[in-house]
Amino acid sequence: MLKAITGTKDILPTDIRKWKYLEKIVEEIFTSFNYKEIRTPVFEETALFARSIGEETDIVGKEMYTFLDKGKTSLTLKPEMTASVVRAFIEHSLGKQQSLNKLFYISPMFRQERPQAGRQRQFHQFGGEALGSTSPLLDAEIIIIVYKILSILGLKDLAVKLNSLGVPESRENYKNLLREFLKSSKDKLSEDSKKRLDQNVLRIFDSKIESDQEILIGAPYLIDYIDEESKNDFEVVKNLLMQSSIPFEIDPKLVRGLDYYTKTTFEIVSGKVGSQSALCGGGRYDLLVSQLGGDPTPGVGFAAGMERILLACENEHSFNLTEENIDLYIIILNKDLSSKVFELALKFRESGIIVDYDYLDRSVKAQMREANKFSARYVLFIGGDEFQSGKLNLKDMKSGEQKLIGLDNYQQIIHLVGK
Ligand code: HAM
Repeated sequence: MLKAITGTKDILPTDIRKWKYLEKIVEEIFTSFNYKEIRTPVFEETALFARSIGEETDIVGKEMYTFLDKGKTSLTLKPEMTASVVRAFIEHSLGKQQSLNKLFYISPMFRQERPQAGRQRQFHQFGGEALGSTSPLLDAEIIIIVYKILSILGLKDLAVKLNSLGVPESRENYKNLLREFLKSSKDKLSEDSKKRLDQNVLRIFDSKIESDQEILIGAPYLIDYIDEESKNDFEVVKNLLMQSSIPFEIDPKLVRGLDYYTKTTFEIVSGKVGSQSALCGGGRYDLLVSQLGGDPTPGVGFAAGMERILLACENEHSFNLTEENIDLYIIILNKDLSSKVFELALKFRESGIIVDYDYLDRSVKAQMREANKFSARYVLFIGGDEFQSGKLNLKDMKSGEQKLIGLDNYQQIIHLVGK
C-alpha cells in the first residue's frame, strides 16, 4: 500500500477545523498590528538558505531537502521563511515602496529531522517579519503578537525566554573567551560539541548531553559581553514586556539554531509537549538583508510551529470547538423527485445555507440517520401526500416543530433556516 512519506501527515476533515481556527486567529492578530500577508514559493535556490541560515547550522548541514532539477540547478524545499521573505523583499524592492514592511505568513516547511511527537519533516509555521527599523518596540511587539495568539488559544503552561546575542563584533570576542574556557576540557566534550568548538561554538550550549552541560558550568555568558546598544535595546524590550504584563525569563543559554541573529532573541516553550517544547522562536537579524545583497535594512521576526501549538492545545485541553452542523438536510421520500431536490438545494445554497441531501438512493430511515450525523438544524421532507397537495414539510430538529410550506414558497424556507 502506498503511504504518506515518513514525517509527513495528512490533515483530515476531522482535524481541519482546529487548523482553520488557529489560522483565523493568526490572521486577525497580525492584521490588528497592520501586518500584510506574503506567500513565497515552496522551493528556492539552495544558495539562499546556505547563505542566510549558515553553512555550519544543523538545518543547512543535515536537514534540508535539496535536489537538482532537470536544468541541474540545486533547489531546496524551504526549511524556514525568513530567508525567502528577505529574498522577496530585495527582489521586489519592497523597501523602496515602504520604509517599514510588516509581513506575515502561514506556510509548510521541510526539514529532514528524526520524526517524533511535535517534530515532522513537513510541518507548518506561521510567523511575521518586520523589515526597516531597529526600534526595539518592534522586538517587543512580535513577542506580544505570538504570546497573544497562544493566549487566545487558551495555552497557559508557557515560558517566554529572552536573550541577546549582541552584534557580530562583541560576539566574536566572546566566542574566543568561550573557546578559551572550554580548552582544558576539550577532550571530554561529546563528538558533536568538539566539532562545534571551531565552527559554531555557541551551539554547544544547546547540547542535550549531560557531561557537556557539566563542562559548561561556570562558563562565561554572551549576555554579559554584548555591546552597549544591544544592551540598551534589550532593556527596552524587557521594560515593554513588563509594561504589557508578559512574563519572561532571561535565558543566557538561548543561542538559536540559525546564524543570522543579532541583538534580542527569544523562544516560547510549552511545558505540555514533551521534548520538542519550543512553540516559537525568533529575534532580530539586522545584517541579513545586506548579506543577501540588499540595501542595509534591519529586521526582526519570529516563526511558530503549528503542529506543536495544536499538540499543546490538545494536551492542555485549551479550547473546545462547538459541534459542527449543517443548516438543512433534504429527505427525498419519492425517488422521482431527485431533480426537484437538486434544483431546490441549489437555490438554498445560493442564499448561503449549508445544504445536503442523499445521492445514494437510501431509505428514508438511512437519510434521517445521515441528517443526524451532520447535526442538521432543519430537515425538509419532499414527497408523499404533502407533495401531492403542493406542500413541503420543514422540521426544526431542535424543537421538533414541523411546518407545511407551499412548494413555490421556498423563500419562506430560506427565511426560517437562514441564520
Ligand atoms: P526555528 O526556531 O527554526 O526558527 O523554527 C520556529 C519554530 O518552528 C520552532 O520553534 C518549532 O515550533 C517549529 N519547528 C521547527 N522545526 C520543526 C519540525 N521539524 N517539526 C515541527 N515543528 C518545527 C525559524 O524557523 C526562524 N525562521 C524564525 C524567525 C523568523 N526568526 C526571525 N524571523
